[in-house]
Amino acid sequence: MKYLIGIDVGTSGTKSVLFDLDGNAVASATAEYPLFQPQNGWAEQNPDDWWEAACKTLREITAKAGDGEIVGIGLSGQMHSLVLLDERNEVIRPAILWCDGRTAEECAEIEALVGREKLVEITANPALPGFTASKLMWVKKHEPQNFARVAHILLAKDYIRFKLTGEYATEVSDASGMQLLDVKERRWSEALCRILGIDPSFLARVYESPEVTGYIQVAATEQTGLPVGIPVAGGAGDNAAAAIGTGVCRDGQAFTTIGTSGVVFAPTKQPVIDPRGRIHTFCAAVPGTWHVMGVTQAAGLSLQWFRNTLGGGDGYRELDNACAALPIGAERLLYLPYLMGERTPILDANARGVFFGLSAMHSKYHMARAVMEGVAYSLYNCLELIGEVGIDVREMALCGGGAKSAFWREMITDVYSLPIQIKESSEGAALGAAILGGCAAGVYPSVEAGCQTAVRNKLVFDPNKQNHDAYMQYYALYNRLYPSLKDHFEKLQEL
Ligand code: XUL
Repeated sequence: MKYLIGIDVGTSGTKSVLFDLDGNAVASATAEYPLFQPQNGWAEQNPDDWWEAACKTLREITAKAGDGEIVGIGLSGQMHSLVLLDERNEVIRPAILWCDGRTAEECAEIEALVGREKLVEITANPALPGFTASKLMWVKKHEPQNFARVAHILLAKDYIRFKLTGEYATEVSDASGMQLLDVKERRWSEALCRILGIDPSFLARVYESPEVTGYIQVAATEQTGLPVGIPVAGGAGDNAAAAIGTGVCRDGQAFTTIGTSGVVFAPTKQPVIDPRGRIHTFCAAVPGTWHVMGVTQAAGLSLQWFRNTLGGGDGYRELDNACAALPIGAERLLYLPYLMGERTPILDANARGVFFGLSAMHSKYHMARAVMEGVAYSLYNCLELIGEVGIDVREMALCGGGAKSAFWREMITDVYSLPIQIKESSEGAALGAAILGGCAAGVYPSVEAGCQTAVRNKLVFDPNKQNHDAYMQYYALYNRLYPSLKDHFEKLQEL
């Protein structure tokens, strides 16, 4: 029996999955780690927690491979998160994550230095605090002693690749989110590095997602249980990987994922750009293609936060069941999911979460329902903007932890008013990474062929028009709340 492995270095944990060549998950293991918030709006993690989690989960799944042969590995991971290594490959400081909003000033500086138009022309996006370049500039300005030690700049999954293979490598989809890549040309922009004062030799070598980037080295075998010499594919940022794991690689297709963040993602043959930068344009994992995506910073995170702080011991299932019994609109309660600032559509790192309309008659279940509805509205914002840049979405898949909730699934279907596909494998990003690993190993002749073999539809949900209309009344009010609070968020930040 031959196997592929997909490793997804997420924000709540790392998941490693052993797949057969038809995309069936044979073994899966997840290990969680903490997220540190040293200040309101900051988010950091320890890269060695990721490595420990990768080792632990890989040991667990390789033990289940028995006499089978692992032929290829692919990596996927949280995007944008900055890992700095010194000359001896020691981690210099905790990673600054994708959902960290400390770099508004540095973004303004980048746009002033480069020129907004030129920046968008090269990187396909305006400067955003979520992206990596502004985090680098922050370290340069606020921690010059750390910046002086930098010898290598990596992203989350690429740090795990380094530990597995000894190679400093990345690939086009994740590199796009660093804001140092020429996204049209799919290579680092030397001009941008020069203007921002970043030594290009610190950057990893850029590959296409299905290419071989290195092989499991002896030093990693003992810690992971992986045999030496297995090829490791470029892989992809978690969203580009989830696209492959849900078979979304052609124009007209799209998927929504609800993980810690929420994303609506649509492939495109050309790098289509939103001039206002409200949705991102990045290289996709299928060579020679791109994608646009809208991002809700705190999607699953909103519900996880609610469960942990206000859930009173209820798990997701209890919350789901109780929420499903409540009416649309949670009896006039709305939630803005801005716990970590927001990207699409407002691009405001100062924004924060809001319950609007709380009444003494509301229970925690009304609040939980409002949280889920607020996330669904935010994702619908993303879908609408994808339509606005001229991409016609005809098929929508749903994946990520949030897709496990039957109630949330139904809500998204009705809010979008689109049939929603659930795939047979719920592994999304890990399956996408494994398919890319299969391409690197020569198992699949192309990414599309890998998708055809390993991704299958399981269920299709049809929308309910009456529910859609009811949701849209609340959606209209939801969209009016942020503009009336924008200045107050800024004031709050100044206090
Ligand atoms: C995408 C983004 C998030 C992370 C979450 O731009 O920042 O979706 O990739 O893991």
